[in-house]
Amino acid sequence: LFDALDDQPLDAMLTLLRQLRSDPRDGKIDLGIGVYGDEKGRTPVMQAVRQAERIVAEAQTTKAYVAAEGDARFVSLLAPIVLGAARAADDRYCGMQTPGGTGALRLAAELIARANPDARIWVGTPSWVNHYGLMRSAGLTVLEHPFFDQATQTILFDEMMSALETARTGDVLLLHACCHNPTGAGFTTDQWRAIADLCARKGLLPLVDIAYQGLGHGLEEDAANMRALLDIVPEALITASCSKNFGLYRERLGALWIRGSHAQAALRARATCMKVGRSMWSMPPDHGASVVRTILESPELTASWQAELTTMRARLNAMRAELARAVPQLASVAQQTGMFALLPLSREAVTELRVRDGIYMIENGRMNIAGLTSENLPRFAAALAPSLSK
Ligand code: LMR
Repeated sequence: LFDALDDQPLDAMLTLLRQLRSDPRDGKIDLGIGVYGDEKGRTPVMQAVRQAERIVAEAQTTKAYVAAEGDARFVSLLAPIVLGAARAADDRYCGMQTPGGTGALRLAAELIARANPDARIWVGTPSWVNHYGLMRSAGLTVLEHPFFDQATQTILFDEMMSALETARTGDVLLLHACCHNPTGAGFTTDQWRAIADLCARKGLLPLVDIAYQGLGHGLEEDAANMRALLDIVPEALITASCSKNFGLYRERLGALWIRGSHAQAALRARATCMKVGRSMWSMPPDHGASVVRTILESPELTASWQAELTTMRARLNAMRAELARAVPQLASVAQQTGMFALLPLSREAVTELRVRDGIYMIENGRMNIAGLTSENLPRFAAALAPSLSK
């Protein structure tokens, strides 16, 4: 039976991870998969997470199932952080826990496919490599619109808006709330407003992916434009991840909110998602949700989490500034936010950096800023500079 299957190459991210792990050289620089690294190159368990894990281990009396919607208390505590207090209290928003932000995206895509089998989703070029496959797996047609020019490091806003003028009512528009993956580039508040108006005018459904909240300008700041859009459109989907801002990558923790035009519609959409989830993973895993719930129930642990997140953000921004100083052609990197930058490098140059210098980046030129340290940055900058002019 299995002989009938085609070979399935790993995606660019997973291929790179495998190459990195099998490279025996000392001094490799890992700028690949999007995981935060500190000044020593470690990905620490956050202090608040450690403490919450102790509390959870002591207090937990059972491993019985939680629920198809996951831990409802976790969802209601995370809602004001993501959506803001007013929307979190608005019954047109209905949320559920998901296995990672990826689980939220897949559920959102399945929901769209069930609500409108003809729906098409517009995704900017470039976007997170997994966005395309995730949407297609649910049967959605993916249409790409221009988003970013890698050579000039600029957002192609006019081109994007022209492409979206051809969208059909009922189409979906995928947006990154902040810290765009892979480019780090973000719309201005005016541009967000124009996108929101376009969605409302043409009847497009925004699907907003917020996977890096707190790693750009701050928890509130990173959500502000998304929240303003939510106040303009009648319906929306919001997918959140706790992988990066709580450092809970392997625990697979995320959430999906449905914003309906009225409460009943949002509830019905969530029931559809729970039914889909039931046939994929039955119920989401609990550990990460218990940990985040425990943090958010405690003012002390919440303060500790936010302080550590602030330190992480400051480090990312410091590395951006240092890279821009060391490589003047990359001045724009200092204006961008979050974990990633999409460098103007050819695929050959990326391969050369990996093979010759042990510097690992995604083949499209995406680098993880969090892989830089004050120690490895000068070597990276020196290796990079000649490739930029090629
Ligand atoms: C990334 O973009 O590197 C992360 O979101 C990890 C992943 O699964 O791709």
